[in-house]
Parts: sequence; structure tokens; C-alpha cells
Amino acid sequence: MTPVIRPARPDDRAALSEICVLTADSGQDASALYSDPDYPGLVWSVPYLFFAPDHAFVLETGGKVVGYVVGAADTEAYEAQLDRDWYPQLARTYAGRTPEAKLDSNVLDKLTNPPKSDPEIMREYPAHMHINLLPEVQSGGWGRKMIETEMDSLRAAGVTGMHLGLGLRNERAFGFYQRVGLKELRRDDAIWMVIRF
Ligand SMILES: CC(C)(COP(=O)(O)OP(=O)(O)OC[C@H]1O[C@@H](n2cnc3c(N)ncnc32)[C@H](O)[C@@H]1OP(=O)(O)O)[C@@H](O)C(=O)NCCC(=O)NCCS
Repeated sequence: MTPVIRPARPDDRAALSEICVLTADSGQDASALYSDPDYPGLVWSVPYLFFAPDHAFVLETGGKVVGYVVGAADTEAYEAQLDRDWYPQLARTYAGRTPEAKLDSNVLDKLTNPPKSDPEIMREYPAHMHINLLPEVQSGGWGRKMIETEMDSLRAAGVTGMHLGLGLRNERAFGFYQRVGLKELRRDDAIWMVIRF
């Protein structure tokens, strides 16, 4: 069965959540690092379905979602909306949860102290994105097709530049992003990569 790229829908939520945890440890399975498999998707995949649906796409094969690319055209506006309409509700739902696994606090802390992108990076590269494919569809050219779909979508919305952050240990994704045209801007607790459209 040939995979197809299609716009994501709200009912892809479970798939986005699962793919996120299965690739959240610098591209590898992070299931053992979170006590609740939904945790990483609450920050890095699921909210895009609801707050940036125009730039959310999935890769589907035989009725199964095997990858996603999500992004926001205006990161500052997206983060402000999540501050109002996403994190407060999560903070209530998950109130009383305490970190039990190694990376739980990475997510639980963000529910009450939502992540903010660097204003200096956003000035020139206002959009940002995340791409995650399951191992079964990696290295087959789908990553390139998915990121090009995302960049076309952002360009069509008038965006002039995009940034993303990746884990310092994710050498593979670093090579991929360079190959598809992104450049390293700087490194701190993450590698920050950018592209001008
Ligand atoms: C990173 C990821 C999105 C790449 O997608 P992919 O489908 O594996 O990559 P593709 O097969 O489409 O490769 C696209 C191009 O990049 C090149 N490439 C891929 N990985 C590379 C690497 N490590 N170094 C150099 N080039 C690389 C390919 O050779 C290909 O080149 P071409 O199109 O010019 O022939 C995918 O492997 C993935 O989801 N990994 C797990 C999750 C993850 O790490 N996400 C990123 C988090 S920041």
C-alpha cells in the first residue's frame, strides 16, 4: 500500500499522541521515559490539530496514521493562544500528577509554565514545525515529502521564514534537515535550525 499525505483531522489525536511518544527520545521510542504515553503529545503534537489545523498533515497507509508534520505560521500568536485556551485546561486536568518517570517533569512543568520561543529567532523566522514518522516509514523519502508539504503550506500563508529545535543527540534528524535546506543557527540546550522562504 502506498502511503498518502492528507490534512490532519481532530480524530487523528490518538495517532499523533502515540507517534510522538514513539519518537520523542531524540527520534527513538520514549515510552519508558514517560509514565503516561500521552504526555509528550500534549506539548509537541496534539495542540496543533486544534490551534493550527491549516498546517497539520499526516501520512496514512492502509488506514493507519504512520507520521505527522505540524507547524504554526505565527509562533508568537500560537503560543499566546495556547496560554489562553490549552494549557490552563490541561493544568486542571493533570493537577496533582507528580513526576514518576525520567522525563515526566519536562511536560508537567510546561502545563503551568508554558514553553516560549526565543523572540529574536521568531523575528526573522516566525513559523515553526515538528515532523515525526514511525520507523516503518522512515528513510523512504516520506520525510522530504512531508516537510515540503509543510513548507509549501506555510509559504502559501505568506510566511517568510521558519525555525525548529531538535535534540542535541538527534544526529540523524540534523542530517535530514540540512539535506532539505535548513541551516544551523545556534546550539544551546537544543540545536536551532532555520530556513528563509
Ligand atoms: C527525521 C525524519 C523526519 C526524516 O524523514 P525520512 O523519511 O527518514 O527521510 P527521507 O527518506 O525523506 O530523507 C530525505 C533526504 O534526507 C537525506 N537524509 C536523511 N537522513 C539523513 C542524514 N542523517 N544525513 C544526511 N542526509 C540524510 C536522505 O538521503 C534524503 O535525501 P534526498 O531526498 O536528497 O535523496 C524521520 O526519520 C523521523 O521521523 N525520525 C524520527 C523522529 C525525529 O527524529 N523527528 C525529528 C525531531 S526534531
